[in-house]
Amino acid sequence: MPSTPGQSARIDQFFAGPGGRGDAWKNLVELVESWARGSGSRAEVEAALAELAVTEGFHAYPGVQLMTALRERVAEDDARGTASLARRMTRAVITRSFRQNPTDWEAHEDDEAAAADVLPPALGRTDAHRPYFEVAIVTGAPAARWPALGAEWRRLRRPLDAFIYEPIFVGSFEDAFCASVLNPDLAAVVIHEGFTFRSRHDAPILRTLVEAMDENEGAKASALSLAQVIKRVRPELDLYLVANGEVEDIAGDPKATALRRVFYAVEELLELHLAILEGVQDRYDTPFFNNLKKYAQRPIGTFHALPIARGKSIFKSDWIRDMGEFYGPTLFLAESSATTGGLDSLLEPTGNIKKAQDMAARAFGADHVFFVTNGTSTSNKMAVQALLAPGDIVIVDRNCHKSHHYGMVLAGAHPLYVEAFPMTEYSMYGAVPLRTIKQALLSLKADGRLDRAKMVDLTNCTFDGHIYNTRRVMEECLAIKPDLIFLWDEAWFGFARFSPFLRPRTAMGAANDIEAWMHDPASVAAFEKQEAELGKDPSDDVLLKTRLIPDPRKIKLRVYQTNSTHKSMSALRQGSMLLVKDVEFHTVEAQFREAVFTHASTSPNQQLIASLDVARRQMELEGYGLVHNAIEIALAIRQAVAAHPLISKYFHILGADKMVPAAYRESGFVDYLDPKSNWAAALRSMKEDEFCLDPTRMTLVCGTAGFDGTQFKGILANTYNIQLNKTSRNSVLLQSNINNTRSDVAHLIRVLVEISNEIDQRLAQGGPNVRQGFEARVKSLMTDVPDLPNFSHFHAAYRREAGKRTNEGDIRAGFYAAYDAAGCEYIRLADPEIDRRLKDGPDLVSASFVIPYPPGFPIMVPGQVITQETIDFMRKLDVKEIHGYNAAQGLKLVRTDALAEPATSPPKPPRERHGRERAAAGHERRRVA
Ligand SMILES: Cc1ncc(COP(=O)(O)O)c(C=O)c1O
Repeated sequence: MPSTPGQSARIDQFFAGPGGRGDAWKNLVELVESWARGSGSRAEVEAALAELAVTEGFHAYPGVQLMTALRERVAEDDARGTASLARRMTRAVITRSFRQNPTDWEAHEDDEAAAADVLPPALGRTDAHRPYFEVAIVTGAPAARWPALGAEWRRLRRPLDAFIYEPIFVGSFEDAFCASVLNPDLAAVVIHEGFTFRSRHDAPILRTLVEAMDENEGAKASALSLAQVIKRVRPELDLYLVANGEVEDIAGDPKATALRRVFYAVEELLELHLAILEGVQDRYDTPFFNNLKKYAQRPIGTFHALPIARGKSIFKSDWIRDMGEFYGPTLFLAESSATTGGLDSLLEPTGNIKKAQDMAARAFGADHVFFVTNGTSTSNKMAVQALLAPGDIVIVDRNCHKSHHYGMVLAGAHPLYVEAFPMTEYSMYGAVPLRTIKQALLSLKADGRLDRAKMVDLTNCTFDGHIYNTRRVMEECLAIKPDLIFLWDEAWFGFARFSPFLRPRTAMGAANDIEAWMHDPASVAAFEKQEAELGKDPSDDVLLKTRLIPDPRKIKLRVYQTNSTHKSMSALRQGSMLLVKDVEFHTVEAQFREAVFTHASTSPNQQLIASLDVARRQMELEGYGLVHNAIEIALAIRQAVAAHPLISKYFHILGADKMVPAAYRESGFVDYLDPKSNWAAALRSMKEDEFCLDPTRMTLVCGTAGFDGTQFKGILANTYNIQLNKTSRNSVLLQSNINNTRSDVAHLIRVLVEISNEIDQRLAQGGPNVRQGFEARVKSLMTDVPDLPNFSHFHAAYRREAGKRTNEGDIRAGFYAAYDAAGCEYIRLADPEIDRRLKDGPDLVSASFVIPYPPGFPIMVPGQVITQETIDFMRKLDVKEIHGYNAAQGLKLVRTDALAEPATSPPKPPRERHGRERAAAGHERRRVA
């Protein structure tokens, strides 16, 4: 409902991001234009303007004076003048040209001089591009004084300043919160003591959100309370407190850690100005990239390898000059194999790479970060190798990326596979229920082998967008084993750090929350209360049903996260980070160094390292707005597909209700598009539900349009230049990211309309045969789906050290068995011998990983006993790409007669092998036997 001027307005819809803001302005322009044409009314314009003014108050542009000028034109009944100004303002808001263009701030386009005294130009007229940001000033001063205060701030600007900023003023706690949420350009907040609590605006949902943000004590109009709430929403912002009285007391308060600096009220404003600029400079700084730029400009003679460095052999060549022209000279000037002369060594960083890594740790809420230049495939292997020793048990999602499985082969760790909930209809898996993970731990405990369980290794979010309740998983697991290590593969989810909604569900977000909880005295009481309630020896059943609270005094918080920075941020392909928050890191630091030496190339790419540094800078300075935009774009796509009558006839995007079974949506959240959903409900779901759906990952069902995933992916790529993510039997995965624009949405929707139209016409004109063919195809894709096979178990020969209740095994021994050619056999999938062996034995034991794409998880791992389920699935699979399987040869199996007999039998002598093969496999065989 549009509100009339003077009425307080609802600002609950403020989560409409930058696109929503642009739409509101375009809507205003349309209303003004209709008024100018005589088909609309001035009252409509006034109402829309009043509504817009509420949220615009949280942005520096257009600012009070331009908004006043606009209102005055309306009041003067000047429809054409209003339209002209509104159009200019709208253009500036949408293109963000106001950041560099002083005339955007002037009400009279052709009369800059006249405007100058009305509208202080926001920007110094300088040719050099200076990055722009905004600063929120929270103040108790009356709103009438804000323009004068703003002028005071602007007078502080100096040509020397590296950045330029505009102040915006808010007078209450709630408005300060709104500004932090709404304004992606904010880089700092200055909090003057003496503001009020309530917003001038009506916003019940906002209030729920504020309360949710300050869970410990309930928000109040204190500067420190405000600082804490803002830090929860935007940890990257610099917060400054200007205190009236006891500065020393405030600075000494533990809550003051949220502040960058505390000032005494009467001190120089210039100091504050300089502190703000320095704070932004701190984030802007990219130590490695800066040095690489300097290096590239120096006249350096190279007498080391890498002839491409400096580009001379390229630009002088008749034959490869085009490569130089394509990439530009800078790339070659910045190529070097040196680790000195201003550069640093990725393998043993002590200089600017170390600094860059420390800054990334700050940005991502970790204690340490390793930059990795071979993708998260390598980060995962590094973490697994560094943290696990042969024989350690890892509870791991069987559907995790293959780097984990291979990592365990290398480490000799024993995977205890746990299964995600299946989504058979769509030939994909969800995520692993916490109950399953707890059951695995309790079973190990019952077998007396809990001490060997070292790690829980899960993928968050999954390829298809299932987000774990990371905090709950870690807390409940730590209640069973307080020193478990957690490895969260957040290959797809690195960006989530920069969304207040998603952050608590990230590994580091949850680890930081758990750490804060551990230091809260109420936590021990909560633990003791539960301990007393559970009694001395609670049954597994009770433990599985109870939301377990760990003992905060015993927990050793050991959390690792890997992310493919290149998948969700502005890093070059293969740029990845490994984040560490581990109180025991000092005990494994040397192992990590070994893991780096094992896996990192000794010739890491300088551009990749620089891009990791720069990606961090970007996320710290504009990640909030970019992620907001990616979410907004995803919601726009979801909305457009659901609402379009033709598209929705053949396609749909799976909502949270379809992706996450109701049992795991305890809050009752249905979906982002559900009419009853609002952001408070989404926040509750993020907080409480066992699994949530990452809105940016959209499963578009195309089986209902008669396409299998691979086929549809091909059509989009080859005919329409749309590249997308993974496919399943009957769906494709679309993903929005920080790079997407509304034009991308428009293109996608147009293409879906075109394809839907074609289907519609084909069905309308093709007669009954075509229709029947289509229906049969849809039925085959949507209902004749193969059951997804669960992991069965390792062969007894690989379970020597296993217990009775769990299925872990020695995957490394299974893997190396395949090196013994004579000890392996091949049977083709269609061979009746497979069926005979399944029925009468001996066991079919896989000698390799078999990973079909899609779905992309190993349906067989080395040493696994193959069951009917797996064979049925393989036989029904209609995908071409199956890693580890050659259809012409058949399944590669370990000959069971080559395997060790049960433990009571004496080990068999190793069979004859040749040279290197014997050397490679002999040791492993003996381990198995
Ligand atoms: C869950 C998961 N982890 C790790 C990786 C590997 O990441 P990268 O491509 O950066 O090596 C992928 C790749 O798709 C993945 O999906």
